Amino acid sequence: MVSTANLTIYLLEAILSHLTLSCALLLATLAAIRWYIRDSYKVDGFSQKHVFITGCDSGFGNLLARQLDRKGFQVMAACLTEKGAADLSTAASPRLKTFMLNVTDSASIRRAVEFVSKEVGERGLWGLVNNAGRSVPIGPTDWMQLEDFTKVLDVNLIGVIEVTLQFLPLLKKAHGRVVNTASILGRLSLTGGGYCLSKWGVEAFSDSLRRDMQHFGIKVSIIEPGFFKTGVTSLDLIEADQRRLWSCLPQDVKDSYGDTYLDDYVKAQEFSMGILCSPDISKVTRCMEHALTARFPRTRYGAGWDAKFFWIPLSYLPSFVSDLVINALLPLPKDKRHV
Ligand SMILES: *[C@@H]1O[C@H](CO)[C@@H](O)[C@H](O)[C@H]1NC(C)=O
Repeated sequence: MVSTANLTIYLLEAILSHLTLSCALLLATLAAIRWYIRDSYKVDGFSQKHVFITGCDSGFGNLLARQLDRKGFQVMAACLTEKGAADLSTAASPRLKTFMLNVTDSASIRRAVEFVSKEVGERGLWGLVNNAGRSVPIGPTDWMQLEDFTKVLDVNLIGVIEVTLQFLPLLKKAHGRVVNTASILGRLSLTGGGYCLSKWGVEAFSDSLRRDMQHFGIKVSIIEPGFFKTGVTSLDLIEADQRRLWSCLPQDVKDSYGDTYLDDYVKAQEFSMGILCSPDISKVTRCMEHALTARFPRTRYGAGWDAKFFWIPLSYLPSFVSDLVINALLPLPKDKRHV
């Protein structure tokens, strides 16, 4: 008698826990489907929408400008060089306008705002894509002078802030979008120099901008690309600059690293960048396009498999784990101390 009652209770419990699990799975699946559908809703009237993109000479900016131009957007592509602007003009429709912009020069930004203001009229600016950036100098921290940091911060962070501030009135008019190009290096400091600092700064600036501007209907998205083949990851530029840094070092610092360190460092860097860098930069521009065209743009876009499945998860792990991984990528100095 007792054992039958026990058995009944046992069976009931098993059925109940099975039901709970099934319900949880069903709810999770429904939530995922709902998210997927919501994520695919688009805004309309691309041909009435103006987008201003910085850094269109090459890389992500250049591809995004051509991509949005094909979709019918009114693209205004800011370039640093005459050649970049001329090449882009020939590759795009007559609708696309190029403009010379140096994001470290306030007067140049003001001229861009005047130009854009005339173009957009009462509609305002739908999209601002802060994409212009530089990477060098990259290397060990004690190879750097203060100006090695500031020249990167001026473009990648202060440039982004000033361009955004000056364009905000036009963006408010259109209840537009700001798309800021950060990086997985805004999640993990993989190298010394100003680049990682600037990208952490872009993350923080974008977070406060998003919260402050949501009340005005402006949406802010952060793009976090992994490693892609662009001017920013150009090994020729990075290495040439590392040789410059090394040649300026006092002899005792060089001695502490050892004679072969620079060559070992450059080799290790070539090896890991060769494995890491993806040539398919459209993975990044597709995220930027989603941020500009989706009814519900995402706050953060990890772009590339390495970003999604390696670097961003790694950034959530304890520092000693990321230190181990990052240390494994580079050679050790000769004078390393075992503590
Ligand atoms: C950009 O502007 C800054 C500040 O005016 C200037 O120092 C720099 O040389 C300019 N860069 C280019 C490429 O024109």
